[in-house]
Amino acid sequence: MIIELKDVKKEYVAGGEKIEALKGVNISINRGDFVAITGSSGSGKTTLLSIMGCMETATEGDVRIGNRDVDTYSDREKSLLRANYISFVFQNFALMDKYTAYENIELPLLNAGVKRRERKKRIHWAAEQLGIKDQLEKRPREMSGGQQQRVAIARALASSPQVILADEPTGALDVDNTKKIMEILTDINKCGTAVVVVTHEKEVAAYAKRTIRMEDGCIV
Ligand SMILES: Nc1ncnc2c1ncn2[C@@H]1O[C@H](COP(=O)(O)OP(=O)(O)OP(=O)(O)O)[C@@H](O)[C@H]1O
Ligand SMILES: [Mg+2]
Repeated sequence: MIIELKDVKKEYVAGGEKIEALKGVNISINRGDFVAITGSSGSGKTTLLSIMGCMETATEGDVRIGNRDVDTYSDREKSLLRANYISFVFQNFALMDKYTAYENIELPLLNAGVKRRERKKRIHWAAEQLGIKDQLEKRPREMSGGQQQRVAIARALASSPQVILADEPTGALDVDNTKKIMEILTDINKCGTAVVVVTHEKEVAAYAKRTIRMEDGCIV
């Protein structure tokens, strides 16, 4: 079991108003899983992903990561989880413009305290997997959207996570690049990494082994 949520609720307060973004959600992510999360805008998909990745804390309910209650993790341990256990991929790639592709992939490894030689090895391995070895010295603005998303996935992969949580990873890509990125995520999944993809597109959800639909803060 990689991630398990039981009766998870999340409440936001914005402008003096309470918003129930999650109203009691149960989900578990296991080794080898490939899950698509679909649902309309505002249904709670990003909130769910953020809680699964311990970027946000639940208002109520149990969140277990690596068979341990997240509340028992210190801040330092949580950041180690985000460095070694869980990787995120975002719709807008979230690369740093001032850094090259190589440096972007390197950043989380630096934060995780990985030594230089090992960093280099992992960056070249991840770049090889994503077919971007010839792009490593480029900066994000010198790359296409599809290339940038490959760099972002290489960054996610380089830390050898148990699970990749991707929030609309193909939302900014055309049909061809969408297909390529989903094929890459499928290959990564075949190698044992669990993959969770939030998407609006049924063509994207079709790559997953299991689809979960959200509606108004609930899994339906
Ligand atoms: N930081 C926040 N503060 C206040 N309200 C928030 C916050 N984040 C999300 N919400 C609210 O929680 C609800 C769920 O938002 P969430 O971002 O999870 O939806 P989503 O399914 O990812 O939508 P989309 O498909 O548009 O990305 C929405 O009503 C949203 O306005
Ligand atoms: Mg969202």
